[in-house]
Amino acid sequence: MQKQKWASVFPVVGAGQFPAVRMRRLRRTDALRRMVQETHLQPSDFIYPLFVVHGKGVRREVPSMPGVYQLSVDQAVQEAEDAYRLGIPAVILFGIPARKDPIGQENFAPEGIVQKAIRAIKAAVPELVVITDVCMCEYTDHGHCGIVDDEQEVVNDPTLEIYGKVAVSHAEAGADMVAPSGMMDGQVGAIRAALDAAGFGHIPIMAYAAKYASSFYGPFRDAAQSPPRFGDRRGYQMNPANAREALREVALDIAEGADIVMVKPALAYLDIIRQVREAFPVPVAAYQVSGEYAMIKAAAQRGWLDERAVALESLLAIKRAGADLILTYFAKDAARWLGRN
Ligand code: PBG
Repeated sequence: MQKQKWASVFPVVGAGQFPAVRMRRLRRTDALRRMVQETHLQPSDFIYPLFVVHGKGVRREVPSMPGVYQLSVDQAVQEAEDAYRLGIPAVILFGIPARKDPIGQENFAPEGIVQKAIRAIKAAVPELVVITDVCMCEYTDHGHCGIVDDEQEVVNDPTLEIYGKVAVSHAEAGADMVAPSGMMDGQVGAIRAALDAAGFGHIPIMAYAAKYASSFYGPFRDAAQSPPRFGDRRGYQMNPANAREALREVALDIAEGADIVMVKPALAYLDIIRQVREAFPVPVAAYQVSGEYAMIKAAAQRGWLDERAVALESLLAIKRAGADLILTYFAKDAARWLGRN
């Protein structure tokens, strides 16, 4: 297999040889390099995550994510306006509720924090695409992404009904797209059916399809106050060791009606992004998660890495691997940096 691969590549790669071939010729000047650049980043590639909390004038920095804030609705509106002005087409909202309970009531309440944020952002920036994360972990007192039974087991099928209710509630508030991230089996199909039945057949689903049980989510759980109270998420999120399984997850989500599929995290899973890109003709998103952001920020604060250069290089790599869209906390900074280039 490997031998055959090389045999088919060599006639092309070896078409010419040094000194007739000199790779450096096209690297000599900036203009020449720009002419042959294969991958380009642009602000329209980005989706900007926002964490919304109750209150007014709240702008609370997440300790492990410098530059990322828990925002009250008024502040989230400002961030959304800034993002749109910079050419970023979409935000994704995460809510921190006033109260947590076993099933997360506020998740589908008309006056829930995300519902309020959607209405305010849509009123201020109607053209901005408002995506909502559909999950339960921020809303439940146990911190799991589904209903938990007496044996502390996360039960799949009863959870689906709640996801459907949450998605419909977000759509009713004016969300333009929903993004189920709980990794329950059948969640995309259940949400598609619930949206269609409620008259939201036009609302697309961006499925967290290949979502790994990753330690790179650490800082997010600070930001969203969503760490599980007991156990972990390995009973529903994917084993980082598995790649073939990601293709099955993606195939299932597409069959259930996913319009966009996501791979998460991004940088440690570039091979998965590439395989999904090659196997399926749907738009692929990748989530540069909180831990990826925190690593760059922390090293930059110590003067060990150049923040701007490393952030842009990481985003470029994610795009080169095959992502059409990147969810990133660097969205606004990256849009600014790209604008100045
Ligand atoms: C909710 C959710 C998580 C993230 C996005 N949606 C956390 C988790 O699964 O524990 C992580 C995002 C990030 O780390 O930036 N299920």
